[in-house]
Amino acid sequence: MRAKIIATGSYVPERVLTNFDLERMVDTSDEWIRERSGIRERRIANEKEAASDLAYEAAKSAFKKADFKTKDIDLIIVATVTGDMPFPATACHLQHKLGLKKAAAFDVNAACSGFLYGLSIADGFIRSGIYRRILLVGTEVLSRITDWEDRTTCVLFGDGAGAAIIEATSEDRGIISTHLRSDGSMWELLNMPGGGSRHPATKDSVKKKMHYVKMKGNETFKVAVRTLENLVVESLNANKLKASQLSLLIPHQANLRIIQATAERLEIPMEKIFVNIDKYGNTSAASIPIALDEAVRQGRIRDGDYVLLEAFGGGLTWASALIKW
Ligand code: ACO
Repeated sequence: MRAKIIATGSYVPERVLTNFDLERMVDTSDEWIRERSGIRERRIANEKEAASDLAYEAAKSAFKKADFKTKDIDLIIVATVTGDMPFPATACHLQHKLGLKKAAAFDVNAACSGFLYGLSIADGFIRSGIYRRILLVGTEVLSRITDWEDRTTCVLFGDGAGAAIIEATSEDRGIISTHLRSDGSMWELLNMPGGGSRHPATKDSVKKKMHYVKMKGNETFKVAVRTLENLVVESLNANKLKASQLSLLIPHQANLRIIQATAERLEIPMEKIFVNIDKYGNTSAASIPIALDEAVRQGRIRDGDYVLLEAFGGGLTWASALIKW
């Protein structure tokens, strides 16, 4: 038994925040942001939208494409670092909104690698025969944990959600292998220190801006390039595949220069790499499922294609999934 993605969906908020808008907010320029990151604009949720609302829209758009009743979903997994609230899980809010009465629900926190961690969990549940149909959503409202006065981070992030419906299949295709890694010793490169049990929310924690993302961008960049190259090689070797046999590589959209550097080291032409960072920035756990949904809708993935998904993010965590579509 394999697990197969039978439908994808995505949703991004209506409001567009361009680099030119950011020029009016912090000491930055459209040119700097484009050259250093590849980002031109990003989407920002309205004040009524939380992570489960974006997830709901993305899930609905995936369900429209799947030909079975939504009530048949056994499990909902939501990957996010910006859930509606610390608990209950955003997956439970989504379960309620979708009215999926039979489904179990929980969240996965692996930052930008969250969707691929979730995909690996879904694959395991399906291969073991425990569940047959799983809804997996990556959703983020990063604008709520962004310090809009910190030019080193606020130009990078955006909001959005992407969903996949994963089903058991006896066909010789679907998720071939997943590869998950972590290194907590580098947690300080990327984190949000406040609001948890180490630094609970207090007037002082808010004053110190501990409820915002902190990132050592330059150091993270270097680790990301090295790690992603190794990860792709490991995923290909595990399946005795060459990079040239991949039809499409869908990387986490954190920085166009990270994507280009990885492509160059692996000798994969940029035409085989899906890029949409210019439109959405870094949407963390939502980035891969949004890109996957766009790639499917643009006809960039055909039956039988080998597609590799890879991500790197806070934790540190990194992960990949090889799919035969
Ligand atoms: N506008 C103008 N200048 C800026 C800005 C800005 N928005 N931000 C920083 N600068 C300045 C810096 O102050 C610095 O100036 P200095 O040389 O006078 O000190 C200069 O630009 C260079 O800064 P660097 O940080 O060295 O720039 P770099 O080329 O590394 O690009 C970036 C920064 C885009 C953040 C890059 O390092 C990056 O993308 N890092 C990796 C991000 C990533 O992959 N994160 C993991 C996933 S995210 C997640 O898990 C949520």
